[in-house]
Amino acid sequence: MSVLETYQLSVNTFDSKEVASKKAAARIAELIQDRDSKGENTILGLATGSSPLGVYAELIRLHKEEGLSFQNVITFNLDEYLPMDANSAHSYVYFMQENLFKHIDIKPENIHIPDGTLSQEQVDSFCQEYEQKIAAVGGIDIQLLGIGRTGHIGFNEPPSSLDSLTRQVILHEITRIDAAPGFGGIEHVPSSAITMGVGTIMKAKEVIMLAWGESKAAIVKEMIQGEISEQVPATFLQYHANTQVYLDKTAASAL
Ligand code: F6R
Repeated sequence: MSVLETYQLSVNTFDSKEVASKKAAARIAELIQDRDSKGENTILGLATGSSPLGVYAELIRLHKEEGLSFQNVITFNLDEYLPMDANSAHSYVYFMQENLFKHIDIKPENIHIPDGTLSQEQVDSFCQEYEQKIAAVGGIDIQLLGIGRTGHIGFNEPPSSLDSLTRQVILHEITRIDAAPGFGGIEHVPSSAITMGVGTIMKAKEVIMLAWGESKAAIVKEMIQGEISEQVPATFLQYHANTQVYLDKTAASAL
């Protein structure tokens, strides 16, 4: 059995999530501009939820005020609820449109989000094709992540294996409780989702993990200092050679 190399995650702690989000957006913009200058595409892996909102706001500002173009950007979102109508205000399709895509010049055909409208018979082939599409464009350059209180990345709930790929998963009770306010009650939160796997995420060339607030402090400590385990999927990032963790002071308070 081969022994995997582990890395000390690179932790960047900022006074506020606003400052941290601007730094993360600046890194993404830097890569896009560098690739643009070589006539190459940039492949971004994107997250939903509250954590990336400030990054998206700053990317929109950079587009509107500083001419950052997304014409050569291709995106793959981490996950989507299943079942989920794409037109629903709860869908990640809607979230991405409202919080990023409709404000920038990305080409619609370059946007990829797992499809929450699939029937059970369609899910497996869709997931395989999602992996193939990522591979076909050369893999993800920068993957944005948030972390759930269960230690999930994407919707890879514990236990998720290191080599897991895009697939259907059952959401953890804690994840559904955290999502409940937005859905008007836990009974309205779907019990299932399609998510990129841990293995999909691990193939990204660079990972930017965002975590803000007191409620993330314990799981952030676990991710960075805890034993690597399928029970806390985010600990697998300790096997990733190029992960930057961006924290505000409260999320870093247990380190
Ligand atoms: C979202 C996703 C999730 C969230 C995580 C944190 O696409 O994959 O892993 O990043 O649940 O959610 P927030 O940012 O709302 O705390």
